[in-house]
Formats: sequence, structure tokens, C-alpha cells
Amino acid sequence: MTAGSPGGLVQEGKATFAVGDAFYRPQSAIARDLAVLAAAVYRQRHGHLRVLDAMTGCGVRPLRYGLEAGADWIWANEGNPDLAGLLRQNLAVLPASTRQITHRDANQVFFDCYQQRDFYDLVDIDNFGGPTPYTSTGLWATRLGGLLYLTSTDGRATSGHDPGRSLKTYGAWARSHPAVHEQGLRLMLGHAAQTAAARGLGVKPVFSLFTGQVHRVMVQLVSKPTLSDRTYGFLGYCHRCGHFQTVDWRHLGRLPCPCGSDDGPVASGPMWLGALHDGPTLAAMQELAARWHWPGQARLLAIMAEENTLPPYYYSLGEIGRRGQMDIPNRERLMASLQAQGYRAAVPSMDWQGVKTDAGFGDCVALARAIQP
Ligand SMILES: C[S@@+](CC[C@H](N)C(=O)[O-])C[C@H]1O[C@@H](n2cnc3c(N)ncnc32)[C@H](O)[C@@H]1O
Ligand SMILES: [Zn+2]
Repeated sequence: MTAGSPGGLVQEGKATFAVGDAFYRPQSAIARDLAVLAAAVYRQRHGHLRVLDAMTGCGVRPLRYGLEAGADWIWANEGNPDLAGLLRQNLAVLPASTRQITHRDANQVFFDCYQQRDFYDLVDIDNFGGPTPYTSTGLWATRLGGLLYLTSTDGRATSGHDPGRSLKTYGAWARSHPAVHEQGLRLMLGHAAQTAAARGLGVKPVFSLFTGQVHRVMVQLVSKPTLSDRTYGFLGYCHRCGHFQTVDWRHLGRLPCPCGSDDGPVASGPMWLGALHDGPTLAAMQELAARWHWPGQARLLAIMAEENTLPPYYYSLGEIGRRGQMDIPNRERLMASLQAQGYRAAVPSMDWQGVKTDAGFGDCVALARAIQP
């Protein structure tokens, strides 16, 4: 998807642009690809697509939303005014009547949108660090039914290595366990859903993506709160036996583990425990990816669809090997064995060296042992 080209220009999707002094990571192309697909699906469904890209950098996203997703109007904002010339030059290919470039603080822009009743179909926030300084304000600029795309580069807070920081960022206590890549997505979703609920609104996940360093969630703003006992609660993890369980608010005080450990499981959360993705939107995105000859993206979307109705955690293959005192099991054989026993099993999109299943951890280890060569 991404290639350098003569004259120092970069090509990504249908966009050709200069990077200059802007922050641009070619490795994040997949995050932009999925956003473009979701935006194109939105455009097909609603017949309009007005985008606010609040932290645009070199302007790759506005270009791609315009050229690939058919955006009717794009506001590209970038806090650093030194990038003004670069942005003007890069976005010149979009008709002048369909774009606007500003250099303001993103939160100021969101407040202004609300003040002017100027709401957007897609608000894209590609910040450094945690998303929470922008989640609430970004929602103020999003139209009802519209999409908000959030980013977190703060893996330390979500992985349980600094629970004090996750408390400040997400209002949640994040513990360390083998499924923390998924936990990062769920903390972001939980915070966004709670923030919306405080205003009597809700968010529904569209898709959730972890690319190795960065967590991203796209959500849709809906008119009713989506927080419930089922969708917002805690994840319990037993350090003694490796067992995961979900825990609702009512049972927070009583957290036994089937292994009988005196210490009991540790609880992480609150976080989003519902689906990570919207199934029908994933299917529409996958169809579009196939039509656009994007096989890698279509495959990733298929993996996301497979995992979507499984429990909100996964087992790492390394952990199965370590706990079972055996070699790391082969993922495909383990999944086949789980399925043969009547369990469901899928590849976790956020960690391909893992398995998502409705089998208990102990059963999974026993099956892995049984298939050791
Ligand atoms: C991760 S980069 C954006 C990269 C770009 N979206 C892309 O996909 O290549 C973040 C950008 O946001 C800008 N920025 C950071 N904080 C901001 C804020 N509060 N308001 C507006 N822009 C901000 C930075 O100058 C930087 O260019
Ligand atoms: Zn246990």
C-alpha cells in the first residue's frame, strides 16, 4: 500500500503526498486503510460524509477520505502551524470547495463545532499518548449516528505496568495478564461508552484494532447509553492457574477462582466487555476490501469477524506452553482440537500468537498437552 516515489513523494492508497517535517508512520497504513473502508461504507449507507481530521500531520487521512471514501467535505486541522505550507501543497488535489485547513488546538476545534452546531460524520483523532483528553470533546463534534476514531499510544497504562496511570487516564485499574493487548482496546471503549453515557448517549464499537504498538477504536455515537452489566465490568485473572473470568459490578466483592487459590483472581477494569466490532459493518468493509483488491485488509477483517462473539480475553500460546510445561503448541492444531471438542476457537486479531476460545484455560492446556507431537 505504501511506497516511496520520485521527488520525495510518498504513495499510500490513492494519495500521493510529501511528508516534510510532519509525523508520518508508513506502518500505520493499516489503521488508515480500515478507517477509509469504514468511512466508505458509511458514505454508501448515509449518502454523505463530512470528516473532521483533528490531528492531520501531513494530511494523508484527508487525502484518503477524499480520494477513496468519497468524502464531500473535509476539515484538516493540525496544531503545528509550521506544517501549513506542506498541508496546503498536499491537499491541493482536493477541490478547494470541499476542504478547509486550520492550525488550532483540537479541543478548541471540537468546542467550536458544538457551538456552531457543526457536527461531523467522522471525527478522526490521531493523538500521541492516551485518547481521553479528546474523547469527551471529540464526541461534542460528532453527529448522532456519526463515527469517532480514537487512538492510544500509551501501552504502559493499558498493559498493567502502571495501574496508577490507567486510573488517571481511564478511571480504571488495569492489571497485568497475558491478554493485555485486548485490554487496551476495552479500556478505550469502556471510557468512551461511559463518557457518552454521562450525557445520556451511547457508543457502539465499529471496529477495534491493535497493530503491535498502537490501540485504535472506531465507535458510532448512538442516542441511548450502551453501558450495562453485560457490556461494562471487570476482567478477573488468576495468577496461580491462568484462568480468566468476567466479573460484574454486583459480584466484585466475591471473586473466587475454580482452582481454589486463597489469593483469588485480580480484577482489571471497569472496561468494555461487549463486542469489539460491529459484525454487519465488518462484513461490508470486507466486501469493499475484496472489491478494491486489498487481500491483507480483507483477511484481517475476516479474523476480526471470527473473534467478535468470543469471550473478552485470549490465551497466549506461550502461556499455555509455560503453564503446561511443554513446547508452545501449534495454533492451528490447538484450534482444530478445541473445535473437535465442541468449543469455539479463533485467532485473536490483536495477538496472532494466541487463541480465543470459550474453553476454560485448564481445558485448553489439557488439549494442548494431548496434541503435543
Ligand atoms: C500522530 S501525528 C498525526 C499523524 C497523521 N494523522 C497520520 O496518519 O499520518 C499527531 C499530530 O497531531 C498534532 N497535534 C498534537 N496535539 C495536538 C492538538 N492538541 N491539537 C491539534 N494538533 C495536535 C501533532 O503536531 C502531530 O502532527
Ligand atoms: Zn485460579
